[in-house]
This record gives sequence, structure tokens and C-alpha cells, in this order.
Amino acid sequence: MTVGDQPEPSPPDGWATVDVRASSLNHHEIWSLRGVGLPADRLPMILGCDASGVDADGNEVVVYPVIDDPDDPRGFSLLSERWPGTLAERVAVPAANLVPKPAGISFLDAACLPTAWLTAYHMLTTRGRVSDAESVLVQGAGGGVATAAVVLGLALGKRVYATSRDAAKREKITELGAVAVEPGGRLPERVGVVIESVGAPTFEHSLKCSAPGARIVVCGATGGPFPKVDLRRVFMMQLEILGSTMGTAAELATLLELCVDRDIRPVIDSTYGFSAIGDAFARLNSGDIFGKVAVDHLH
Ligand SMILES: NC(=O)c1ccc[n+]([C@@H]2O[C@H](COP(=O)([O-])OP(=O)(O)OC[C@H]3O[C@@H](n4cnc5c(N)ncnc54)[C@H](OP(=O)(O)O)[C@@H]3O)[C@@H](O)[C@H]2O)c1
Repeated sequence: MTVGDQPEPSPPDGWATVDVRASSLNHHEIWSLRGVGLPADRLPMILGCDASGVDADGNEVVVYPVIDDPDDPRGFSLLSERWPGTLAERVAVPAANLVPKPAGISFLDAACLPTAWLTAYHMLTTRGRVSDAESVLVQGAGGGVATAAVVLGLALGKRVYATSRDAAKREKITELGAVAVEPGGRLPERVGVVIESVGAPTFEHSLKCSAPGARIVVCGATGGPFPKVDLRRVFMMQLEILGSTMGTAAELATLLELCVDRDIRPVIDSTYGFSAIGDAFARLNSGDIFGKVAVDHLH
């Protein structure tokens, strides 16, 4: 990874350019640097999925990072996979990908929402149907998606249990209002929704903690993609194992409103100036984070 100059965006018709005020890092950037989803023939590539900023008309906006992409097997790609990402002074996206930023939320907080928080929101609501559940288990609770799921699960009125490998992070989970559990630990009840982004190290525990009819919603596999699955438990307990990726632009708008209306703010582990972007990546890559690593583009 290097910091350097790239040409100004030259957006096609129907695209808009945003002056980036703030961005945030996701585990996606670590995968990109390892070449996952970013083949060598697309380099150099500007990294970054998340941003808030100001468009050419002076509107304060949040950038929705999912771009229609008929050449991708998923039918879309994320910013920084095919089109240049947000860790820059300016980023270009289809105009339909600009979501108005409510006045009641800062650029920095808003820039933490488009990937990790939107993913957690979509996992809990659209995929996990959390309104039908009393309680939620979040695995690997230190990460961006996981802290979002803890805060949003509580805001939606659910009992939230969360595992973390780290005692200090378990302490912070408790401060957020959830019940912290050691990895593999017994819960006082079986839950209706499990938020899974860890994969192999936690999946067996996720199955065991699921109530009959529970939804185990999977958005990632940071710890490995090949868990041991006892299928007897899946069919006897009538469990649903559901894949989940990102969310819609409309859900991002709803999430922004929810944050303003309920005075919810993203959990931010640390904030770096744009000039210290290398340190921000080192922090994310350490794995020793609690919440989002945010980047202030004005410093
Ligand atoms: N499908 C999608 O749309 C989508 C969207 C966003 C993210 N994701 C994926 O979801 C995952 C999390 O993303 P993120 O940005 O939240 O990552 P992150 O901020 O880097 O957090 C990763 C967390 O995973 C836990 N973890 C990592 N390795 C583990 C292991 N071996 N055993 C147990 N826990 C482990 C850690 O929690 P503790 O230290 O607390 O144990 C860590 O804090 C990534 O794989 C990412 O690619 C997918």
C-alpha cells in the first residue's frame, strides 16, 4: 500500500463527484490488500468503501458503496473493487448512490455507517427478522459489524449477548449494555437471531445457542470459512442459516434516520487524520479494535 497521487475522477454520465470529508476502514480493506476480490490487473486501486462528504451542489451526503456491476457474479461490486474507493480527496459514484446526510449526525459518524453498520442493520432486520425474536447473540464482538449489531440489537429492544476473545473487549461490551460471554460460553437462554461474521471458530457455538426456528445470519468468515456443522441440529431445531451482504440505499437512509431519532452513534475505536492513513491501517490490522477506525479527511 502506498499513498500517492491519482488522476481526478472523470465520472461517466449519471455519476456524481463527492469531496470526501470523512471515511472509515473495514475489514474489506484487509482482504483487498491480500488480493481477495482485488486481482492484480485492477491495480493501482484506491481503497475504501465508506465516505461522507459534499457533492458538487453543496449537499451533505453519505456515499452508498454498492455499485451495479453486470460483469461481477454478484451483480454488483463495492467501491474499491472495480471503481476507485473513498480513501481519497474525491470519489465518484452513480448519483443514485448519494444518500442525504441528516444535519443531526456528523460527517465522521455518518462515514462509519455505509458498510459495517448497514450490514449489521440488514442482518438484524431484513435477513434475521429480529422483530420476531427476544434475544440476539453477536459473535466476535470487537469488530465494526459486531459492535454495530450489539448497539442496534439493544436499540431495537432485544436482549443481546456477545462473545469476544478479549477480556477488555468483554468489559466494553458490558458498558454498551449487552451481556458479555467468553467464546463458547453458555448463555442463560437460546437466542432467536445469531450475528455471525467470524465463521469456523464460532459457528458450532452459534448452532448450540440457537432456539428452535432461529436465524443464523452470516456476513463474513474472518476466522475461516469452513466450520463444522452438525446438520442434525439444523433440521431438528428448524434453524435457518442465511447469507447476508450489505443492504440497500433505502436501508442506509433509514439507518441514518434511526441514528438521529434515537441518538445512536457508531462505536468508534479511533480516529486518524488523512495524513496518518498508514497508522489507521496498522490499527485495523492489529485486530485489537473495538468498533470502527475512522478517518478525518480535513486533517
Ligand atoms: N457481507 C458483507 O456485506 C460484509 C460487510 C461487512 C463486513 N463483512 C465481513 O465481516 C467480517 C467482519 O468485518 P469487520 O469490518 O467488522 O471486521 P473487523 O472490524 O476487523 O472485526 C473483526 C472481528 O472478528 C473477530 N475475530 C477475528 N478473528 C477471529 C477468530 N479467529 N476467532 C474469533 N473471533 C475473531 C474479532 O473479534 P474479537 O476480537 O472481539 O473476538 C474482531 O474484532 C469480515 O470478514 C468482513 O469481510 C461482510
